Amino acid sequence: MLALPILLLSYASPRVPNTTVAAAATVDTTTTGAKPSTTAADTTTTTTADTIEIAPGVAMPRLNAGHPDDGAHNETAAALAWLAAGGRGIDTALDYNNQRDVAKAMQASALKRRELFITTKISCGGFQSAADKIAEDLKELQTPYVDLLLIHFPCSTHAKTKQVWRALQAAHKAGQARAIGVSNFAKSDIEAVMSLGGVKPAINQCQMSLGSHDDATIALCKSLGITYEAYSPLRRVSLSDPAITTIAAAHSKSPAQIALKWIYQQDIVVATSPGTNRQYIGEDLDLPSFTLSADEMDTLAKL
Ligand SMILES: NC(=O)c1ccc[n+]([C@@H]2O[C@H](COP(=O)([O-])OP(=O)(O)OC[C@H]3O[C@@H](n4cnc5c(N)ncnc54)[C@H](OP(=O)(O)O)[C@@H]3O)[C@@H](O)[C@H]2O)c1
Repeated sequence: MLALPILLLSYASPRVPNTTVAAAATVDTTTTGAKPSTTAADTTTTTTADTIEIAPGVAMPRLNAGHPDDGAHNETAAALAWLAAGGRGIDTALDYNNQRDVAKAMQASALKRRELFITTKISCGGFQSAADKIAEDLKELQTPYVDLLLIHFPCSTHAKTKQVWRALQAAHKAGQARAIGVSNFAKSDIEAVMSLGGVKPAINQCQMSLGSHDDATIALCKSLGITYEAYSPLRRVSLSDPAITTIAAAHSKSPAQIALKWIYQQDIVVATSPGTNRQYIGEDLDLPSFTLSADEMDTLAKL
């Protein structure tokens, strides 16, 4: 525990300044339909300068730090390092078994609850089981609400998925989740929950990286006004690929930043795992600072 204040001091100079949304949103509003947020109201709910509106009045950070699967078991320190460096989005899940660590970081940071954006996820089960899991999420996170609540994976049948979705809609109505969404959903899964009417998914969080992207589902989400979020954005990316290193050199950025920026610049929210690595955290939060050309985006899309 003694290490935490030291860590906060070491990251005391944020790379993404704690300023207004509009200042950074103009940096990079390139290609797709999701709307980078520029309203004054957003600045009252989150202090990160780099957000996207995923539901009415809900501004989500475009960069989120998740569960570092590094075996180091330092997830409170990782979350604190991210927050201290200017990150505001944290991605967790009941199944990650790290929500208590995230709660410790939330408490140890000097940030107000409304300045943070917490995403969590629940797995399948019936309506009541889902409602119980949501209550467990809130208890573990020690918060009266999460900012975004997702179904982690579609259930074995659409009927079961719909039951969980009804539980998420109820949680949204009760104020337990400011926005609700899905993860790892394909077309038919999305259509199943949309068929219920009511609040639609704000987000579909799916694996996406250079060379591994489901363009049809991305296009579907865009057409439905569902913001796409990429998890594992560096998975199986060959960072020594000359196409990536050449672009990296041209921008004086790391190859990982180029791989992440290709996603980010499509107005797709990113969930990455920098852990406590100061270099990685800095690289991730530096993504708004540069823009890839249309030719570079095209080259990367073809990898
Ligand atoms: N919804 C779902 O089903 C689902 C599934 C999986 C993950 N997720 C979420 O997505 C998050 C990210 O997934 P992931 O861990 O697979 O992420 P990733 O970003 O694809 O991989 C992270 C790894 O990439 C390397 N790396 C190199 N440069 C980096 C940089 N600048 N920033 C960050 N990492 C860099 C690091 O490994 P080295 O230290 O080895 O270099 C790091 O551990 C998770 O934390 C989780 O919250 C969701």
